[in-house]
Amino acid sequence: MEIQLWREILAPYQLAVDELVVKFNHVKQQYQNAKMYSPIEMVSGRVKRVTSILEKAQRKGVSMENLTEKIEDIAGIRLICQFVEDIETVVKIIRKRDDLEIKQEKDYITKSKPSGYRSYHIIAYYTVQTVSGAKRIEVEIQIRTLAMNFWSTIEHSLQYKYKEHMPDELRMRLLRAADAVDALDNEMASVRDEIMDAQNSNKRKATIISDILNNIENLYYVANEREVTKIQNEFFKIYREDDMQMLVRFNKQLDIIAEMYRAQSVLGSIV
Ligand code: GTP
Ligand code: MG
Repeated sequence: MEIQLWREILAPYQLAVDELVVKFNHVKQQYQNAKMYSPIEMVSGRVKRVTSILEKAQRKGVSMENLTEKIEDIAGIRLICQFVEDIETVVKIIRKRDDLEIKQEKDYITKSKPSGYRSYHIIAYYTVQTVSGAKRIEVEIQIRTLAMNFWSTIEHSLQYKYKEHMPDELRMRLLRAADAVDALDNEMASVRDEIMDAQNSNKRKATIISDILNNIENLYYVANEREVTKIQNEFFKIYREDDMQMLVRFNKQLDIIAEMYRAQSVLGSIV
């Protein structure tokens, strides 16, 4: 097949990957904007390379004519979660979407593949708009934890290196590593609440600090410079203390000061 033809075939797949990466990043963004924990940690996507498509077609006995019907992962999206529990949340989010119609779900988490591979796969239909009209294509969405992703990335490069000739000893070690990954995910699940608390308190702190800085900046326009400098120094002192309660109290005081100035300026405009 000519290279130009490939480009034409793959163009809608590239568009689908680009769009879905943007869309899933926005899901993450939505959680962050709401100051909520996001079940999606990382989003990536790729279009399968022509050599890999040809290799897979040959391996599966797929002819050139029905290549795009038989190969489901030409467009691939990967959603990485922090915890196993998040995977189900992400799957539910996908099931609810109007722009993705699920064709098949493959649960390699409850039951891993013989290699030790664990991941949740969704094959879905997705429609892109091209100059020649709407085109409905298939995409493969892989959902897995950071730990599962670590394992499969390493295993994939070893598979690539050895092809079908991976030494048994190495295969065994990878299986043991897969068990270790599983144990790590379980261990993480049991400390999930602690981690979430820590993440939430980090976020709360970041929010309050940006609130304080905003307040100080606003005061610059209405209060005298000496007073604002005093407030700012006070803030630096409290900031170094790293005490959430103190930060909250300080911010409340700033709110009161800001309120006072607002009242003053209203009075000023009346008189
Ligand atoms: P291929 O495995 O790609 O031939 O496709 P399939 O039709 O058999 O579907 P399957 O669900 O088995 O695999 C789809 C994709 O999951 C693959 O393209 C890989 O990205 C990933 N995958 C499946 N099995 C393994 C594995 O043992 N190791 C790694 N690293 N990835 C795997
Ligand atoms: Mg396979």
